[in-house]
Amino acid sequence: MQAMARVMLLVILFTAGVIRYAASQEQVAVTYEKDVKSIISKRCLLCHGSNAPTIEEFNKDKEGFKQQNKGPRMDTYENLMIFVNGTDTGALMRRLDDGKNTKDGNAGNMYKTLGGTDVERAENLVVIKKWIGGWTLKRNAEITDAERKAIKALEK
Ligand code: HEC
Repeated sequence: MQAMARVMLLVILFTAGVIRYAASQEQVAVTYEKDVKSIISKRCLLCHGSNAPTIEEFNKDKEGFKQQNKGPRMDTYENLMIFVNGTDTGALMRRLDDGKNTKDGNAGNMYKTLGGTDVERAENLVVIKKWIGGWTLKRNAEITDAERKAIKALEK
């Protein structure tokens, strides 16, 4: 009888452990609302904010907007996702990579704006990489279905 009680106690403790682990995993999931929005807002929206052109407008006059130091609009989750997993898949990753995954070993040209110091840039890149999940620099035409599925980039 005592052995039975001990087994049951073990089962209960194990189950509680599994539930606690699952809950903690959920808490660490990086999301746009919780973790990414504030980085983008602080480091990118000066030039990619709501007063910047939509991607369609931008594509019609790239040179003109570059001269005004305006890039395409990334002010909302939907607008940002265009550059993660949309018509411009991988653009965010290509521009933000620190050089570890680029062909020429150079960082993407927006990496420098990711922070005011090397440490801040590196920390913000870690958050964005975790958020995206499967970090790939590939474009729409090159990306495989499996690679696309690996891009998580949760909103909430
Ligand atoms: C000082 C202004 C400025 C800041 C700050 C800035 N960008 Fe840019 N960005 C530009 C301009 C201008 C372009 C277009 C010229 C080019 O392609 O380099 C651009 C282009 C891009 C593109 C390519 C878009 C496309 O489809 O061609 C991405 C992606 C991008 N930026 C992401 C970011 C991210 C993410 C941040 C913040 C970490 C950021 N940028 C910060 C000015 C800026």
